[in-house]
Amino acid sequence: MAQSIAIASGKGGVGKTSVAVNLALVLRQLGSRVTLLDADFGTANAHILMGENLRPTVEKSLLADEPVQKALTQTAHGVTLLSGGSTALDLLDLKNHERLQLIRKVEALGDETDYLIVDTPAGASDATLAFVAAADRILLVVVGEPTSFMDAYTILKAAHLEHGVRSVSVVINMARDAAEARRHFDQFQAIALRFLDVELTLVGHLPMSLPLRRSVVARRPLMSNPGAAQSIEGQAFMTIAQKLLQAPKNVPSGIRFFLDNEKKEG
Ligand SMILES: Nc1ncnc2c1ncn2[C@@H]1O[C@H](COP(=O)(O)OP(=O)(O)OP(=O)(O)O)[C@@H](O)[C@H]1O
Ligand SMILES: [Mg+2]
Repeated sequence: MAQSIAIASGKGGVGKTSVAVNLALVLRQLGSRVTLLDADFGTANAHILMGENLRPTVEKSLLADEPVQKALTQTAHGVTLLSGGSTALDLLDLKNHERLQLIRKVEALGDETDYLIVDTPAGASDATLAFVAAADRILLVVVGEPTSFMDAYTILKAAHLEHGVRSVSVVINMARDAAEARRHFDQFQAIALRFLDVELTLVGHLPMSLPLRRSVVARRPLMSNPGAAQSIEGQAFMTIAQKLLQAPKNVPSGIRFFLDNEKKEG
């Protein structure tokens, strides 16, 4: 049955989309069916990182009363993309009920995908929180800077207090090594646990990586390169995927992707 994973950060430009895209490819390479929802409406760019051109009709299909399948893009990497594209301005101003309708609409993919990865917008807007709170697993991307810690804390606090989110995984991006990542995680966790009743799990780190940056410029995800699985970054993404799937699940109280999971599991 389908599981949803939301990628969030609070602060912009810390690597959410890079993580979302490469995590999607790793899960696909492990044999799962993967859908990537680019919920960064208005400034969507997962398709750019994946080197895909979207049909001009996908934005309309996402919004209209049409089956979600009409908005899907089958990418060259085996991952299915659900994105309105970078000009989807109508998606930017979704009202709360429209956003919830969209989450409900995605539920129709429950039988055709194993993992739904949701790339969320920076900030702690209602839109980001809705997508975060609707996910089975939440991966917070943090870099070792006070601004990133504060913005990640802001989104964690809002998700916890407004939506009852408790279990969140963390990846430290652009870390020198595992020891530095652990130090940053401990610092962040100390702030969070002082004020919030949450459970954080460090699922891995990524190095500062020229190949990762170049892959964006080349519009070819790093994990699609031959031999990527053996690279430092590839092994890091593999560890992140495995630990994330073992980490405790978020049990959201409100609307969620794949509501049917509860019935099936129950
Ligand atoms: N580990 C890394 N090493 C080097 N560069 C990185 C790394 N992670 C991300 N980057 C670079 O940082 C920039 C921002 O990355 P990305 O778009 O994934 O961030 P984002 O959090 O999705 O941004 P936004 O908030 O704008 O959506 C890109 O140029 C990307 O190549
Ligand atoms: Mg992004």
